[in-house]
Amino acid sequence: MRKIACQNFKGGTGKTTSVVTLAHCLATAGKRVLIVDLDAQGNVGVSLGVEAPGGLYELLVDNRSLTECMVEARPNLFCILADASVAACETILVARPRREESLSRALRRLPEVVPDIDVVLLDCSPSLSILSQNALVYADELVIPVSMDYLAMVGANHVYDNLAMIEEFFDKRIRVAGILPTFFDQRVNMSKEVLAALRERYGDAVLTPIRTDTRMKQASSARQTIFEFSRRSRAGEDYQQVCRELFA
Ligand SMILES: Nc1ncnc2c1ncn2[C@@H]1O[C@H](COP(=O)(O)OP(=O)(O)OP(=O)(O)O)[C@@H](O)[C@H]1O
Ligand SMILES: [Mg+2]
Repeated sequence: MRKIACQNFKGGTGKTTSVVTLAHCLATAGKRVLIVDLDAQGNVGVSLGVEAPGGLYELLVDNRSLTECMVEARPNLFCILADASVAACETILVARPRREESLSRALRRLPEVVPDIDVVLLDCSPSLSILSQNALVYADELVIPVSMDYLAMVGANHVYDNLAMIEEFFDKRIRVAGILPTFFDQRVNMSKEVLAALRERYGDAVLTPIRTDTRMKQASSARQTIFEFSRRSRAGEDYQQVCRELFA
């Protein structure tokens, strides 16, 4: 089972879109996938058009069972959803011993609850929160979406700094599975500059860029993934390619 966190401390870099799109790509290929939404914005449930009586708050704070806190949003695509209540998790967890390990403890029985689970994707909020730290303590790998602007690169650098701290403190290794360029537009100079800077800095870790595509926004407002919304789309093709690069 692969456990991959998706993080950038800059907002709006395509974290949720990448998690949802890659998860659906994997699920339609027959892999069993779990998305954990760690962001109080609750965008995973909104994007997929699903709700559930229990989610991350009930799992971490109320100690409800994994089965009760999970919903199968699409065949083979399971989700632990977040909503505004998750903001309160932070203040409650802060008082707990080994608070950064709360998620790891709660997901310990996952392979029994979802047999043959292949991949867990963790959608983080754009901040260095206790829940973001929980995601890194649980995950073995990290994908960092970087939109084509310098502030997103700064956000990615902060993710690396924090990663080093977590690795040292928790005595574990987390592999950066990929830097994912998002909102790429060949016609815009800034896109080309940032992509070149990423390749210079991170080399082979840089994945295929995801092109800007208005259908991506339309898909989420229709509560569909890009593959459901449009049979052919630029961003959909790019995500399929990235899926092959990450999971081949
Ligand atoms: N390739 C794309 N082309 C056009 N729009 C996109 C693309 N990818 C994502 N979007 C849109 O950009 C917005 C931000 O994307 P998303 O919510 O995935 O970012 P995020 O990093 O999760 O944001 P936050 O930091 O707030 O959690 C959304 O409205 C989404 O539909
Ligand atoms: Mg998000």
